[in-house]
Amino acid sequence: MDRELERRRSGSDPMYMGLLAISQAIAGLTDGEIVMQTCSTEFRKLVPHDHMDVALIEKNDRINQVYEAWLRTDWSNAAPSSMIVAKSPIRLVLLGHEPYLLTGDAINDPRFHFPGADDGPIFDENLCSRIHVPLRVQGTIIGAISISSHAADCYDHSDVVLTQHCADLLAPYFWALSRAEEASRAARAESEAKSREEFLRVGALRLTEGMETERRRIGMDLHDQTLADLARIVRVVAKLRMQTSVSQEQLASVEQALITCLGDLRGIIEDMKPGILDVFGLEYAVEAILSPNELAIESPFEWKVRDCTKGAVDRLPTSVRTALFRVVQEAINNAMTHSHCSRIDVTISQEDGNTMVSVDDNGIGISKKLLRTAKGGLSHMRTRSKLMGGQVAIARGPGDIGTRVVVTVPFTSEPVSSLAAET
Ligand SMILES: Nc1ncnc2c1ncn2[C@@H]1O[C@H](COP(=O)(O)OP(=O)(O)OP(=O)(O)O)[C@@H](O)[C@H]1O
Ligand SMILES: [Mg+2]
Repeated sequence: MDRELERRRSGSDPMYMGLLAISQAIAGLTDGEIVMQTCSTEFRKLVPHDHMDVALIEKNDRINQVYEAWLRTDWSNAAPSSMIVAKSPIRLVLLGHEPYLLTGDAINDPRFHFPGADDGPIFDENLCSRIHVPLRVQGTIIGAISISSHAADCYDHSDVVLTQHCADLLAPYFWALSRAEEASRAARAESEAKSREEFLRVGALRLTEGMETERRRIGMDLHDQTLADLARIVRVVAKLRMQTSVSQEQLASVEQALITCLGDLRGIIEDMKPGILDVFGLEYAVEAILSPNELAIESPFEWKVRDCTKGAVDRLPTSVRTALFRVVQEAINNAMTHSHCSRIDVTISQEDGNTMVSVDDNGIGISKKLLRTAKGGLSHMRTRSKLMGGQVAIARGPGDIGTRVVVTVPFTSEPVSSLAAET
């Protein structure tokens, strides 16, 4: 039997035993840093050193990963973008131009120093004696192993052979580790990209929903306010046209109506509450819808607004008060437009935790069929009250005369007078 093989089998070959120890120590380890440290601890028994590293390259021009044992230098701390093979002090090995590098004094060895070289750690850590051998997988260089000592001239050719054996043992291991890390990096990047995409998708959806809600609000407000105002102004102008002459006063009143209409339109665009509602309260705001109609219709016209809550309605949340106002506005507009009424009564009240506003007209009465197929203003009334958790009831009035619209919302508040009494 071959004497060499006999020696190994008997366990008296230190290199064979050392490499076997490395192989056993790193078996099952999956963290590159730990593999490096474990391997270096074992390899130190064969070739003493103060620093050991493994540099893995990618497509011959980039250093993909550096693992270090005993010292942590800029070689493993550097930003990935600056880890370029051409700048590496061991580029001759990484590029396959030299089978290995052996030096007794790397600090003064010109092979390690050239313009732009990443040679800082050699000086910083006083890495004097050095050995560099390639890591190969299926004949391709995938990186290099380097061992260094602070002492000068401490390695010879036999140490290079040992280091190369170690490199041959470790190459497939580090290659597998780097592939696994690359796969997990790619998976992380993919999942980050997916969550970014999801974030944008949800954001876009919310934006669309928000725009849709806003579009509906503007639509409803334009319908209930601006359209009705303009229709009333048209009625006034039509009435004036029938006269033989028009006074300055009458023209000024039309002008004023148009100015108010423009102001309200601006308010709708800017999502402001109806200004009059804010300043004077619901009762007055409803009166302000009714009073200009006196001018607009020919026949005698009466109206009355009663706030039985003694101002408590104006202490409701603004959104509730605005919704009540808009529903009442449409009910009055409908009465004025369709019912041929001569009287409208609006009553504001609170009862059993609810606030109600009723609009009664003494006109021709609404047909039941229309109620079932309501699309325009009637459906806006329903939508607005539903949004407040309330409801709207539209039916023929008491004694089957005219139409009664009652909007109910589940909110109440203290009357202004009782609050004043408490304070
Ligand atoms: N107070 C009422 N008296 C008699 N008929 C009414 C009354 N309110 C509504 N109507 C009838 O119900 C229909 C539907 O009313 P709705 O408010 O939905 O639409 P509109 O007033 O015709 O148009 P818009 O969509 O501009 O409001 C009216 O066209 C009208 O015929
Ligand atoms: Mg209407």
